Amino acid sequence: MCGIVGAVARRNIVPVLVEGLRRLEYRGYDSCGLAVVTSDGPRRVRSVVRVAELDDQVSEVRFEGVTGIAHTRWATHGAATINNAHPIFSSGSLAIVHNGIIENYQALRETLREQHYEFVSQTDTEVIAHLIHSLYKGDLFAAVREAVRQLTGAYAIGVVHQDHPHTLVGARAGSPLVVGYGNDENFIAWDALAIAGSAEHISYLEEGDICEIALKGVRLVDFRGDKVVRNPRRVQAYGGAVELGPYRHYMQKEIFEQPRAISHTIPATDTFRPRLFGEMASDVFRGIDSVLILACGTSYYAGLTAKYWLESVAKIRTEVEIASEYRYRESVPNPRALVVTVSQSGETADTLAALKHAQSQGMTHTLAVCNVATSAMVRLTELKFLTHARMEIGVASTKAFTTQLVALFVLAVTLGKVRGHVNDAQEAEYIHQLRHLPAALNAVLALEPQIIAWSDDFVRKEDALFLGRGLHYPIALEGALKLKEISYIHAEAYSAGELKHGPLALVTEAMPVVTIAPNDALLDKLKSNMQEVRARGGHIYVFADSDTHIKSDDGIHVIRMPEHYGLLSPIPHVVPLQLLAYHTACGRGTDVDKPRNLAKSVTVE
Ligand code: G6P
Repeated sequence: MCGIVGAVARRNIVPVLVEGLRRLEYRGYDSCGLAVVTSDGPRRVRSVVRVAELDDQVSEVRFEGVTGIAHTRWATHGAATINNAHPIFSSGSLAIVHNGIIENYQALRETLREQHYEFVSQTDTEVIAHLIHSLYKGDLFAAVREAVRQLTGAYAIGVVHQDHPHTLVGARAGSPLVVGYGNDENFIAWDALAIAGSAEHISYLEEGDICEIALKGVRLVDFRGDKVVRNPRRVQAYGGAVELGPYRHYMQKEIFEQPRAISHTIPATDTFRPRLFGEMASDVFRGIDSVLILACGTSYYAGLTAKYWLESVAKIRTEVEIASEYRYRESVPNPRALVVTVSQSGETADTLAALKHAQSQGMTHTLAVCNVATSAMVRLTELKFLTHARMEIGVASTKAFTTQLVALFVLAVTLGKVRGHVNDAQEAEYIHQLRHLPAALNAVLALEPQIIAWSDDFVRKEDALFLGRGLHYPIALEGALKLKEISYIHAEAYSAGELKHGPLALVTEAMPVVTIAPNDALLDKLKSNMQEVRARGGHIYVFADSDTHIKSDDGIHVIRMPEHYGLLSPIPHVVPLQLLAYHTACGRGTDVDKPRNLAKSVTVE
């Protein structure tokens, strides 16, 4: 998704901007660009290839400047073409970079057309550029302030103008932006990561803030125009590009990092006290009567899995909603519900909006389960639980998912204790099972060669079905999502009991059916569902717990999971599905870490 970096300095800042873009690359993008201010107007370079290619252009034409803005774009309005790549210009004197979506851009475009502005891109961003230009009377800060008042939607912007060779104006609403303070040079960026090493301190801008970045300092005002200070904090040193080590892709590396990520996420305590979730958690947990989980994508599937745990272990009614649905739905607010947002990035626009929607309806008890301590989501909620997956680079989420599951299981056990449904002995057993997970996952990862052999069959397929029941139904959904995200094979998941209500019509010899078969109470029913598939000639690929007695046969392929994992079984069972998707995608030669059209964190609606 889009990224922004901008700077005002005394030195040539172009290498810093290019490096900033490089660090934001993992978020996913389809074009990029950079502009510097000169007295003849802004100059820019843009690319629809990669940041590395932009860097080549910069070196070839000796592109230099002390004030500049740079951007990675994930197309929303207008295709991924050079013309639509940012920075976008107005009248040859002003340049802008923008994250987010302007909802009233059509109306503004008409008005600006009447003022004889010519539009050369399909972007909503060009509207902001011309709007600021139309309001500019020598004071760039004032023009930006006036312009943003007319915008509806979400934006983080950086603007430069030829009349102000040492000034950059930024603004945010609904899309993150940080200000960075360096030594005689100052910055804006989507995230501290982009400017770590150059900026020593950063402040997170709040909704409606506008900033003016100059050499000597930063002017910051809120949406009313009042001067504000936004708590500066030290920037952690940039750890350098994450090494791939012996792996071919970050996704593969991240799959193999799961035992470690999980062991870092399990609290290192003998008992799970509410304090693990924040100081207020003890009071909050005693007062709630239900849980509402809000999330998107893979995080939503973590929420769906957690519903089973929260209802069976903590005996608390739990609803799980797709954030983009909940935010626009007329729902019945329950002030006694604990609203749990689950997010790897903590910046997903729909999840943030759903959280704010719940809060605006009087649901004040909120908890973020998140992988990024400094994210907007963590700052917005009353309680928090951080997953310790460390940075996830592959767009398709793997270690973030399994650590979210661990966090949500810890929540279920903690709430179960508070509500009197988990006694000390049961808690000790749950903690024991959690601590065994890293070893269990290592044993599952050792199945990789068998999964590679299966992936040879999947490489040639265009469709696949995934079946699971109960706790493993969300895992089937996640397995199908992984396969479609990175291999582009059309995959769907069903609760196995639903097979006969529709998807069975799709089953032919050409349709591989991946089945998750843990040794649980639903095993016999699942075996019947498998027979229904086999009777129609479908080929079944089963991940079966060792004690299920499901054997390989004509049209039935079995990989035996090393053991049976009880309630935590979804965690080991998702790992072979990640590996199957990964090796199938490798076989099809796709860009595994940056699948087409997708972004790591989706900061627009
Ligand atoms: C994008 C990513 C997914 C992720 C989803 C939610 O679609 O590609 O991997 O699951 O966003 O992201 P979040 O950061 O909120 O977990």
